[in-house]
Amino acid sequence: MSERLVNDMNRPDREFETTLRPARFADFVGQARVRERLELAVEAARARGDVLDHVMLSGPPGLGKTTLAHILANGMGANIKCTSGPVIDKPGDLAGLLTGLEPGDVLFIDEIHRMQKAVEEYLYAAMEDFVLDIMIDQGPNARSVRLEIPRFTLVGATTRGGLLSAPLRSRFGITSRLDYYAPADLKAIVLRSARILDVAADDDGALEIAGRSRGTPRIANNLLRRVRDYAQVRADNRVTRAVADAALEMLDIDKHGLDEMDKRILESVILKFGGGPVGVNSLAVSVGEEPDTIEEVYEPYLIQEGYLNRTPKGRMATEASYRLLGVARGAAGKELDLGL
Ligand SMILES: Nc1ncnc2c1ncn2[C@@H]1O[C@H](COP(=O)(O)OP(=O)(O)OP(=O)(O)O)[C@@H](O)[C@H]1O
Ligand SMILES: [Mg+2]
Repeated sequence: MSERLVNDMNRPDREFETTLRPARFADFVGQARVRERLELAVEAARARGDVLDHVMLSGPPGLGKTTLAHILANGMGANIKCTSGPVIDKPGDLAGLLTGLEPGDVLFIDEIHRMQKAVEEYLYAAMEDFVLDIMIDQGPNARSVRLEIPRFTLVGATTRGGLLSAPLRSRFGITSRLDYYAPADLKAIVLRSARILDVAADDDGALEIAGRSRGTPRIANNLLRRVRDYAQVRADNRVTRAVADAALEMLDIDKHGLDEMDKRILESVILKFGGGPVGVNSLAVSVGEEPDTIEEVYEPYLIQEGYLNRTPKGRMATEASYRLLGVARGAAGKELDLGL
């Protein structure tokens, strides 16, 4: 049970997310630099009566990319149309989307790295010159027709920034990368969500939830929801540290905020590769995940939290991860070669 539960915590819950999703920059906690740059761009574009530049948002799941796309559209007083890379499977779909836009609208393309190459190529001219060159007819009658489209803002989101092609990347005026949130920011997010959900959470209770949220607002909100259930039934609807701790303990939520894949990665480095160094490809095969996902989704958090080091020779487990797994150095796997 616990394994599934932990993995579920970073899954979006549509209804819940809509309720808790901040709609304005002022309610968007943390990511100060990203927020400042975007807020400034919105203000400047508005003052000029211009359309906002295309914006690319990248970063691990649940950190606020979709949220920011909506805030950008709100800030511009524009409509937002949402779609996702894999859904647009032919250039005609893209043409339909683009010609249906009003001037100034935001087109949000989630998982933009998964867009088909053929579609992506049409997007280039659309982003740059607000035109679409569509081929009609075939054989000797084939000709291209130029279609004007309204000036719009493309907001692209991706969890895998590294997979974006250079031509696509270069067409975004603003590129921002979201990072894991500090506990203080997550605490503020939990307190805000608790207010909205009408749960009495104190600072320590919120911090306890924050600490187990893998630096991720979506997880923090999902944990709060679980804790709320517990508090409602057993603790008079009050979330204190003791209540949060008991609830999360009961649900088997890791004290350090690690999820199942985080642990599999650390286990693999330590138990199969003797603590490393191990290359990302071997590591990926051993945990059954793609190397890019390891690099862009899992590793950054493990490195930030001091469980993993990235060296020129590969990934290495740290003291902290040995302690976490309760394994003595050199006790398992191949002979240790620390390469020091
Ligand atoms: N800075 C923030 N302040 C407050 N709440 C936030 C913030 N960022 C995210 N959230 C909350 O976390 C939830 C998940 O965020 P969001 O859906 O924007 O993540 P995402 O980056 O788009 O994830 P995915 O890659 O899975 O699509 C939101 O519904 C919102 O409630
Ligand atoms: Mg999203």
